[in-house]
Amino acid sequence: MTQDELKQAVAQAAADYVAKHAPAGSIIGVGTGSTANFFIDALAALKDRIKGTVASSEATRKRLEGHGIAVFDLNDVTDMPIYVDGADEIDAGLNMIKGGGGALTREKIVAAVAGTFVCICDASKLVDTMGKFPLPVEVIPMARAQVARELAKLGGTPVLREGFVTDNGNLILDVKGLAITDPKGLEARINQITGVVTSGLFAVRPANVLLLGTSEGVRTIL
Ligand code: A5P
Repeated sequence: MTQDELKQAVAQAAADYVAKHAPAGSIIGVGTGSTANFFIDALAALKDRIKGTVASSEATRKRLEGHGIAVFDLNDVTDMPIYVDGADEIDAGLNMIKGGGGALTREKIVAAVAGTFVCICDASKLVDTMGKFPLPVEVIPMARAQVARELAKLGGTPVLREGFVTDNGNLILDVKGLAITDPKGLEARINQITGVVTSGLFAVRPANVLLLGTSEGVRTIL
C-alpha cells in the first residue's frame, strides 16, 4: 500500500470510530494535515449525523466548509467527545510531536477541550524515542532570537521556518537534534520560556487512541 492509501485507511477508521462512539448531534474536533484532510473527506458522509465541527486551522475550516460541514467557534462549544488529528511522530505512550503543518497551537487548544484524542497515522510515524522529526515551537515574533538561545540550552538546534507565519500571526522555530526521553518534562520546560506560545510536544495531553495504518491493516493502540 502507498503512504496515501495507509492515510486513507486510518482516516476511514477514524470516521467509523466517530460513527460508533460520538453521540448523534455531537461536535467533533478536526486536526490539520494530509491525514486529517482524508479524515475530513470521510467525515462528509456523517455530516447529517453530527452537529458540526471545530477546526484547528484555517485550511481545515475551508476544507470542512467545502464539504458543507458546519464549523463552530470553539468559544461556543463546551462538549466535544472526540478530536481527530495526525502526528509527525508518536511514541508507545501516545505522546506526539505535531506542528509539521504549523497548526500546533490551535491543535493543542482544540484537543484540550476534547474528551478523547484519536490520533491517525501511517506506521512510519511510530517511533521508540521522539526527536528525529524537528520539534516545532511557535514563538511571538519579537522573542524569536531570545527563545532560540533558550532552546539551544536544552540541547537542540532551532531553525527558523523561513517564509512561514502561523494562523495566529507568529513564527515557528523547528528544533533539530533533540532526543526526547522525558516528553512531559520537556514540554513543561519549553512552555516556561518567555515568548513561547506553544511547543509541538503533546505529552501533558497525549492521544488516547492511536489508529495506525500498516500494510496488514489498521491497528488500534490504546
Ligand atoms: C499540523 O500542524 C500537524 O500537527 C499535523 O497534524 C501533522 O504534521 C501530521 O501531518 P500529516 O498527516 O500531513 O503527516
